[in-house]
Amino acid sequence: LEELSLRPQLLKQYIGQHKAKENLAIFIEAAKMRNEALDHVLLYGPPGLGKTTMAQIIANEMGVQFKSTSGPAIERSGDLAAILSSLEVGDVLFIDEIHRLPRAVEEILYPAMEDFCLDIVIGSGPSARSVQLDLPPFTLVGATTRAGLLTAPLRDRFGVLSRLEFYEIIDLCAIVERTAEIFETNIDKQAALEIARRSRGTPRIANRLLKRVRDISQVKGETEISLPTTQQALQMLQVDDAGLDQIDHKLLLAMIESFKGGPVGLDTLAASIGEESQTIEDVYEPFLLQQGFIQRTPRGRMVTAKAYNHFQMEVPET
Ligand code: ADE
Repeated sequence: LEELSLRPQLLKQYIGQHKAKENLAIFIEAAKMRNEALDHVLLYGPPGLGKTTMAQIIANEMGVQFKSTSGPAIERSGDLAAILSSLEVGDVLFIDEIHRLPRAVEEILYPAMEDFCLDIVIGSGPSARSVQLDLPPFTLVGATTRAGLLTAPLRDRFGVLSRLEFYEIIDLCAIVERTAEIFETNIDKQAALEIARRSRGTPRIANRLLKRVRDISQVKGETEISLPTTQQALQMLQVDDAGLDQIDHKLLLAMIESFKGGPVGLDTLAASIGEESQTIEDVYEPFLLQQGFIQRTPRGRMVTAKAYNHFQMEVPET
């Protein structure tokens, strides 16, 4: 229940993502004025930035039902047909990890998105028949880590493409304070700022760190989460001063020590540290790139001077 109420319900409660919010607010208002379903929306960006929350907010703001599923959960076209035929006028259908929809299922989605039409095949062999059912106008909200993971025909059917960005520290700080209030926990301003600074621009991480810091503060008998306790807790959790965790360290140190700083290919790097390429690309790299610890070149990933400095290592001569 605590988890549920952590999510803001309306755009005006949603902290950060100013550009995405501003645009969506206009598109929502216009669709409501015309009494139409909102155009299909693709939300993309690294995990933990609020894509699911935003999808729920879109449904709340439009005053419609929210139905939710995910790409890997839909195995057969019949599964998707069942979901689509249960929709009512204007509903939001949220498909998380939409890039993982099986190809045959994705093809059902094209006419559904474009013409609100469900094409299904009944039976098999010579007696198979194709039938078409009308669907009510609805809004598909898809979520994915990178827009580039979608096939072009699917991507082209979204009217609104909205990229969620890493959060500003000031916004993360407000999120930490809001969550602490929901937890009925007092937190020192500097402590909230410390968590915000070390959360990799990601509310999901900020809220997770807050929970662990709260545990330690509570066991210590504090009436307010203090800065020293927060610093101690973050050290225990092996989150460094820049918010980098053990896997970030492994990744950067492998690049420095095993590959002379790069360039190194993604798969080679993944194999050398025993992580999935996809996880590195979707979860770890975006923040390291945004913070300038690594760079992408045509020949692979390279660490930057900032990475050497972070580990107090000498930057090699080039
Ligand atoms: N909790 C998690 N993310 C949030 C956000 N963007 N705004 C408000 N509360 C949040």
